[in-house]
Amino acid sequence: MFCAVTYQFKGKNNEKHKLRREQRKEEAKKIADEQSLVNAANSVKNPLHLLIPHFHKYDRNGVNVTIECGFAKDWPEDIQQWGFEITRRNMKDLYGKEWKDKEKRAELLEDTAQYLVAKQEGEPVAFCHFRFDMDFDLAVLYCYEIQLEEKVQRKGLGRFLMQLMELMAFKTQMRKVVLTVFHDNKAAMSFYKSRLNYGVDETSPSAVEAEWEVNYEILSKTIKLQSK
Ligand SMILES: CC(C)(COP(=O)(O)OP(=O)(O)OC[C@H]1O[C@@H](n2cnc3c(N)ncnc32)[C@H](O)[C@@H]1OP(=O)(O)O)[C@@H](O)C(=O)NCCC(=O)NCCS
Repeated sequence: MFCAVTYQFKGKNNEKHKLRREQRKEEAKKIADEQSLVNAANSVKNPLHLLIPHFHKYDRNGVNVTIECGFAKDWPEDIQQWGFEITRRNMKDLYGKEWKDKEKRAELLEDTAQYLVAKQEGEPVAFCHFRFDMDFDLAVLYCYEIQLEEKVQRKGLGRFLMQLMELMAFKTQMRKVVLTVFHDNKAAMSFYKSRLNYGVDETSPSAVEAEWEVNYEILSKTIKLQSK
């Protein structure tokens, strides 16, 4: 009798373990599949070329630009330097004490960093820094920066560049486009939330009711994948 009870107990335990092992295997496979999507996206030489040429230029509201894409490290030094300077000009006050030249330079030149650069008459006027990356367990396109020179702001170019990133995310099967925005950046907050329909991401500190206070929000938009 004693042995039978023990056996029954062990049997139940074994079932539980088996189930947990299966679940873990499934989770590991899901993450590996997402990582494969990120690797595949990062191996695309020019993700902008996944889109038809119509999306390689923008000519509206007095702005006439051509748009190019490439890894940060492959852009000439003058573009890398301009990218850093416009980011500092537009963002330093919002960062406050957290702004660090060296850290921002390093972030902007990280191995997987890619830029969309919009040029007007050969001069850069806007850029986006994005990466294909894992965000927790999902393959995402993470938009690190979108920076426009003042003279081309509020003419629809920012919205167009965000649409390009969403289309590239769609073409590479990323699950969502994710970005971080300071609460104090009211213009950008309104741009993303009201005009582009970005919502608070489930990983944002405000969504997880974090006890610590932060000065930013993580926003995202889910990308509807193509049915096979
Ligand atoms: C924020 C930014 C990317 C927006 O790009 P943009 O080309 O200027 O914006 P768009 O013309 O595409 O604007 C689309 C809509 O977004 C909203 N919007 C954009 N800028 C806004 C502003 N300054 N104030 C309020 N709403 C704004 C408006 O609803 C606008 O539509 P409307 O002009 O018809 O009213 C750009 O202004 C910029 O580079 N700002 C400085 C850097 C920055 O803050 N980057 C974001 C970091 S998270």
